[in-house]
Amino acid sequence: MASTVETAKKLAAYKAVDENFPTNAKVVGIGSGSTVIYVAERIGQLTNKDQFVCIPTGFQSKQLIIDNGLKLGSIEQYPQLDIAFDGADEVDPQLDLIKGGGACLFQEKLVAAAADKFVVVADYRKESKILGREWTQGVPIEIVPNSYAKVTNDLKKLGAKKIDLRQGGKAKAGPVITDNNNFLIDADFGDIQDAKKLHEQIKLLVGVVETGLFINMADKAYFGEESGEVTVWTK
Ligand code: 5RP
Repeated sequence: MASTVETAKKLAAYKAVDENFPTNAKVVGIGSGSTVIYVAERIGQLTNKDQFVCIPTGFQSKQLIIDNGLKLGSIEQYPQLDIAFDGADEVDPQLDLIKGGGACLFQEKLVAAAADKFVVVADYRKESKILGREWTQGVPIEIVPNSYAKVTNDLKKLGAKKIDLRQGGKAKAGPVITDNNNFLIDADFGDIQDAKKLHEQIKLLVGVVETGLFINMADKAYFGEESGEVTVWTK
């Protein structure tokens, strides 16, 4: 039997697709992570699935598109999307997000930024009053590999309490390599009072490719609740 969290993810994803998928969509973004699996599954059930192309946000996402019988396109071919769906690690009431728990934040942000509408799908654990409170692993930051020591020093000066170069763990000795051949830093700032400002400060550091702070990008967020209901946050 599916766990409560798994059921919550599925309910949120299905409802988000059912309520937002544009009838005449031509280009659709498919994000990364464990919740988006259900987005791809639901979109794969559409009878008109030969009439739109799906743009991935990384390797896993590309496989989801293929496995669900959807047409695969690239962001280079289709730089304007009708809609994008993606998960999140933390969402605040302004719909600002922390993303990058799955190390795909750069392509996720590229696809979301190119979409007319960006819909987030998540389970109840991602709802937060303030970014940095529930997702305590730190803000994921994609960096050019040889800049990690310098960027670590810079992040300390910006007030990070804990900074980790993300490791592959049992699966790899050494750091995680992103789909763009970069490294990832997780920088914990505690409660983030001004997420826009922090994003801008980090983005200016030489060596930083992109931050996992998604500011003013999401239009709606669907949360599967423990009760089996789905809560929708809008702007
Ligand atoms: C990957 C992401 C994911 O969308 C985020 O980690 C949420 O994943 P999940 O749906 O598995 O909780 O940002 O980089």
